[in-house]
Amino acid sequence: MANDDSGKIGINTLLAHSGNNPHDYFGFVNPPVVHASTVLFRNAASMAARSQKYTYGTRGTPTTDALAQAIDALEGSAGTIVVPSGLAAVTVPLLAFLSAGDHVLIVDSVYHPTRNFADTMLKRLAVEVEYYDPHIGAGIAALIKPNTKVVFTESPASNTFEVQDIPAIAKAAHDAGAIVMMDNTWATPLYFRPLDHGVDISIHAATKYPAGHSDVLLGTVSANEGCWKQLYESFCTLGCCSGPDDVYQVLRGLRTMGVRLDHHQRSALDIAGWLEGQEGVARVLHPALPSHPDHGLWKRDFCGSSGIFSIVLAGGGQAQQHAFLDALRIFGLGYSWGGYESLAVPVWLGDRVVATARYEGPLIRLQIGLEDVEDLKTDIRRGLAAAAAA
Ligand SMILES: Cc1ncc(COP(=O)(O)O)c(C=O)c1O
Repeated sequence: MANDDSGKIGINTLLAHSGNNPHDYFGFVNPPVVHASTVLFRNAASMAARSQKYTYGTRGTPTTDALAQAIDALEGSAGTIVVPSGLAAVTVPLLAFLSAGDHVLIVDSVYHPTRNFADTMLKRLAVEVEYYDPHIGAGIAALIKPNTKVVFTESPASNTFEVQDIPAIAKAAHDAGAIVMMDNTWATPLYFRPLDHGVDISIHAATKYPAGHSDVLLGTVSANEGCWKQLYESFCTLGCCSGPDDVYQVLRGLRTMGVRLDHHQRSALDIAGWLEGQEGVARVLHPALPSHPDHGLWKRDFCGSSGIFSIVLAGGGQAQQHAFLDALRIFGLGYSWGGYESLAVPVWLGDRVVATARYEGPLIRLQIGLEDVEDLKTDIRRGLAAAAAA
């Protein structure tokens, strides 16, 4: 399918057909998995001029191109790099666009390893790191300094699911000459297209919904025209390329991502709404619920919700949180999300410096998998009963 059709067709058609052209490889519907370091040149002149499409495995292969082109079709981006993890999809663009003496603004509710990278490596490289409130919106203008080069956003927030006013932040950043990056893993480009809302660089842990089966680590970073060259050159400089089998697995995952996400969305909303009426639950932090304080913003900008949200227990502390988690039989206790199976984790908010809202009790993050909803509710009932008895 030609990429210039991508604006007119439905999302599942796009997911089924974007990336590779089967007729580039004998008509096989899937692209070859190219295991590559060396690429041969026909003669010394073409080697000197590097005048062929592929020159060395680190710089791209037909397999990485197939995934990158599929992601470009979803994101509306000028180019996409594929890196070995979601965390690398955060660190590579930050390294690509920040230099010693620059200032970066990072949302305080960011994924913890992003903060850890900023607080250790970026600070060691003499980058000034500052955190801001996820609800800041246009108010970010007051924090922007002459040396602010990047505003890093993640929406909804990790663990607490505040929604950021991305268009307002992007406008303020651009007015001051800074670029905007967004970790958009929660929504995927199916439910939010960052570049359409003013973001310059869209980041995904493809480990989650694109891979979908808890067996691959991968990240993608997609840039608009203005940022693409610098992103790609930095990616090549860092040598941060990915293995072809993992790249292929994510392209394979993309083909079914639309139907899986739809199921995750429906099950998560059903369970989240049901949880609001359960004894022992003070609040459900899911932006697609009308009770969520940022529901209006979510509704304005997003066109869907995925399968991960948090609950706040009605009082108690770690004993109740652990009792809930230990009583679960279907939900596994494990990090990550976006796979076929349900997971639960205790939420720790001790790293926050600005977004320090108080909650009624301990928080638990739930990733709703593809199991039957009634079974998941039964499991959660076991958790709530155990927490009440603790
Ligand atoms: C929002 C967000 N971004 C990035 C990542 C990192 O992804 P990976 O596990 O592939 O490094 C995660 C992982 O949980 C995440 O939740």
